[in-house]
Amino acid sequence: MIGLLDSGVGGLSVLRHVQAQLPHEALVYVADQAHVPYGTRSAAEVQQFSEGISRLLLELGVKIIVVACNTASAAALTYLRETFPDVPFVGMEPAVKPAAEHTRTGKVGVMATAGTFGSERYADLMQRFARDVVVFEDPCLGLVDLIEAGNTTGAETEQLLTRVLHPMLAQGVDSLVLGCTHYPFVRPLIEQVIAAAPVKPATAVTIIDPAPAVARQTRRVMQQRDLLSPVTSPGTLRLFTSGSDAHMADLVAHLWGQQVAVETAVWHGKTLICKG
Ligand code: DGL
Repeated sequence: MIGLLDSGVGGLSVLRHVQAQLPHEALVYVADQAHVPYGTRSAAEVQQFSEGISRLLLELGVKIIVVACNTASAAALTYLRETFPDVPFVGMEPAVKPAAEHTRTGKVGVMATAGTFGSERYADLMQRFARDVVVFEDPCLGLVDLIEAGNTTGAETEQLLTRVLHPMLAQGVDSLVLGCTHYPFVRPLIEQVIAAAPVKPATAVTIIDPAPAVARQTRRVMQQRDLLSPVTSPGTLRLFTSGSDAHMADLVAHLWGQQVAVETAVWHGKTLICKG
């Protein structure tokens, strides 16, 4: 059984790829919508939330945890690995390396959260892979909230993306990193905004989402540790939220076009407990 966590519905963009890579595995997903967004919170808070969610996932029987959130990976991955030394954790980071390898203009755009940009992990990533390119960063303030509100196509979201993307494109950015797991849900709008940009590089702009690589890494780790399920029937899926189950169910229906049952988990201090 695989556990996945995020501040909200963002990690569902990773879950889809994990499902495709590992169709027989049972998946449990926790959205910490009581605390979304994580991107403007302190690293200490995000560590505490990630630890509480991980404890719940382990109680539910997961054998591996995918931190399907760049912000939580940046703030808490090292801490989680220290706190739960026997549990394999798969984390995420903005795909700066493939973007730097791919760019022809030498200009890379990164959309992530303030928490991710401010982290040591990100600074290290830049040191290792972005020395020879110019990186344009934007924390996209408010974008996660809009996506959590189900606004993936509206005028407000389009305006925010236009404000973020048009200056990057005018600078010649031809590789764009989706460094927050919520952002793939507005990818069609991002593509539309890029197409409408008045000034942009002559070559096509490539959008890079690390989720497929994270799903492949999850499968590799499970193979190495002999954790793959012997079952050949389709894997089950349980979705939990620490926020409103009705809102989460509506949001999932909007994002996936399909109804999925949502269960509730409640925070009691630092402990997250399944309701019912
Ligand atoms: N989806 C998360 C990420 O990948 C968190 C966004 C947020 O809660 O601010 O960064």
